[in-house]
Parts: sequence; structure tokens; C-alpha cells
Amino acid sequence: MATPPLQMPVPGERTSETICRYRDENGPVSPIEFPGKVKAWMVTSYEMVNAILSNDDVLYSKSPAYFTALHDGTVPADWPLRQLIEGDHLLVKDREEHRRLRSLINRAFTPGRVAGLAPRIQEMTDELLDRLAGETGVVDLVKAFTEPLPVAVICELFGVPEGIERNQIREWSNVLLSHTASPEEAAATGAAILGYLAEFVERKRGAPGDDLTTGLIKAQEDDGDRLSDEEMLWILWLVLIAGHETTVHLIANAVIALCTDREQLAMAQERDAWDQVVEEALRSRNSVVGVLFRYPNEDVRLGETTIPAGEPIMVGIAGAGTDPATFGADAGRFDISRGAREPHLGFGRGPHFCLGAPLARLECRIALASLFGRYPDLDLAIKEDEVGYTSSFITEGPSALPVVLGPR
Ligand code: HEM
Repeated sequence: MATPPLQMPVPGERTSETICRYRDENGPVSPIEFPGKVKAWMVTSYEMVNAILSNDDVLYSKSPAYFTALHDGTVPADWPLRQLIEGDHLLVKDREEHRRLRSLINRAFTPGRVAGLAPRIQEMTDELLDRLAGETGVVDLVKAFTEPLPVAVICELFGVPEGIERNQIREWSNVLLSHTASPEEAAATGAAILGYLAEFVERKRGAPGDDLTTGLIKAQEDDGDRLSDEEMLWILWLVLIAGHETTVHLIANAVIALCTDREQLAMAQERDAWDQVVEEALRSRNSVVGVLFRYPNEDVRLGETTIPAGEPIMVGIAGAGTDPATFGADAGRFDISRGAREPHLGFGRGPHFCLGAPLARLECRIALASLFGRYPDLDLAIKEDEVGYTSSFITEGPSALPVVLGPR
């Protein structure tokens, strides 16, 4: 009997639970249908996810030509993720083209630039926490903390001045974060961000600073291989889109895990084990539950299923992170003391491995250590199963997180 398609998660529920339940009942390869009648496959075992990501660029492609070939040469207008396929950025490039762009970006997005942001991230974190001082009632931690921090960090990275412009970027990011925007609204917001970035880059040319944008402009001016204006805009656009929501949700998901298992919280505090908290959240409570399509260049056999060449495969990161075959019977449990059996795939693997991983790790560590350092008794104000999640096959995190801070 054919496996029934994996359905969109019910709004409010954790997508990762839907995915894992499905994997346990039907096996690791499933048909999936998105709004806009976009059909694909979802792969949810560690072994398969690892094999696909490791074979990127060889057996699999990210070229949108495969996608449009299945949809009369276009991207369906009512598909909410249009720009992730239509845009001209890293996530749709293969091989030489991809390597060339990554190496140009690496000239500007250096480990030194990330490390240099640490004091500002700490300051911005402290400012947000200062605003909560004296709050005795219920606070929405998403609104007050996990949402404003990542967008402020990206603005800092880009060199966007504080004030109106940052607020505008934050508003746009929130439209995308809420997942309640229609496909038209989401596309219009994405276009508004691109329009703003074009104007912002022009301004930066005249007033350079010590920031990623200026670094990319320098990479444009270097002799030899150059970034085009268009490429530069899409890089900044993707960094904002890929770096905001993922970080917002990872911090919030880790807060939920720690509040609902206070032994883990005590262990994190006693051992100052915030790096382990971040890694364990990336494995078992990741903000990224799935990443977009890989298209096999030839028919591929995955377990019992043959996937025809060119059909889109969604890579189920959440399934891989909680696969009992790899992480044991208690794979779903958040436990910072578990020894790593296999590296988690929370930032992906292979050529498209997360460009912002060092920044995300730094930021999440500072956010969590500072939050619980200041409010060690912080707790959820509702039951764990009352937390409502945004509904998506790409990201997972609470749409709001009511907490009480407790005494300082
Ligand atoms: C790619 C996860 C934060 C920028 C990825 C991928 C994953 C991921 C799984 C692989 C996508 C694929 O293979 O198709 C995460 C998580 C984050 C995070 C869990 C936070 C906890 C960030 C931040 C930035 C960023 C802060 C930028 C400052 C990117 C970019 C790519 C990417 C540009 C595309 C890389 C490429 O295609 O070569 N991320 N990310 N991410 N991420 Fe992140």
C-alpha cells in the first residue's frame, strides 16, 4: 500500500513531533504536499539525511530549474516559499558557482568579525534584560527577548544604524516570522527588504564602516573575481532571512527545554555548560526542522523507495536529530550530559553548511547564559503542552512564550 502523504502540521503543534510520529509509523521516506500543490519527498532518518547532505553537489543539485520543470516552467504563485526558490542566492547554487560565492563571502564574514561582535551582543542582551527589571507579571519572552536580539545582531553585523531603520527591518522580519502573512504579503515584504538593502549598500559605499556590508563592498572592489551588485544584495537578503528566525526560535526552544527539565537547567548553571545547551538544542529542539529541496541528478534508491531524478527531496533535520537508530531510545530527550554519538546535523552538512553557525552559537550562548544568569528562577507561565508553535516544515518555535521571571 502506498504511504499516505505527510500533512502540514496542525497550527500550534510542534512540526518536529508530526515528522517523528510519521517517521515511526511509516518509515523514513514520505511523500509530502505543501500549500500551492507543491509535491515533494521528506526524508527523516539520520543516515539518509547525512548521506544526502554529504552527497550535495555530486548526486544532488539545488538548481531551481528542476523545480520549475515540474511546474510548467514557473514557481506556483500561491507557494509561500517562492523567494527561497526564485531568489539568486547561495541556497539555489551548485558546485563552482556556489564555491565561488562562498569564498567571496568568507573574505568579509571572517571568524574575527564574528568574535569581534561578542561585546556588542553581550551589551544588547543586557539592555533587553535591563528593560525587564522589576517585571513581576507574565512576560512574553519572544516579544521581549528572543525576537529583538537576533535582528539587532544582524543589523549590527550589517552596520545598520540604530533607530528607525532597525525598527523597519525588525517589522519586516516579524511579518516573515509570524507565518500568518499571505504568499503575496510575504513576497512583498521580501521585495521591500531587497529594495531597502539596495539603497543601504549605496549609502555604505559613501560611508564605509567596520561591518559586513563594507567588507562585501571591498570584496567587490578587489581585482580578479568580483561580486556583482545583484549577488551582494542577495547575500545580505539571505543572511537576514536565514539568520533571524532560526536564532529567535533556537533560543526560545532551549528556554522551553530548560524550564521543563530543571535538573538540566541546574546542570547547565553549575557546570557553566551553555555550549552544551546550545548543541543539545540544535540536535533535539532545533529551530530548523527541514531544509529545502535537493534534486537527485539520477533516480535514487532510499530505503524501500525509488525517487525519480529531478523530484524535490526535503531534508528532515528534525527527524535526523531525534532518530533512535542513531541517538538511542531516548533520542527525543533533551539531555546535555549525553555523550555525542554522532555529530548533530542542526546546521546541515556539506557545501551548504550554515554560513552563520559561529555567530549563531555565540549569540545563543550569550543569550541563554545571560537570561538564566539574571533570572535563575525563570519559568513558563503556562503548561508545556499549551505552548503554541508556528506552523511550517522549515522552522519551529513558539509564536509566544509566556514566562514569569521570578526574583533576580
Ligand atoms: C544555511 C541552520 C543561523 C546564515 C543553514 C542550513 C541550516 C542552518 C540547517 C543548511 C541549509 C541547507 O542545507 O539547505 C541554522 C540554525 C541557526 C542558523 C539552526 C540558528 C540557530 C544562521 C545565522 C546566519 C545564517 C545567524 C547568518 C548570520 C545561513 C546561510 C545559509 C545557511 C547564508 C546558506 C549557506 C549555503 O547555502 O551555502 N543554516 N542557521 N544562519 N545559514 Fe544558517
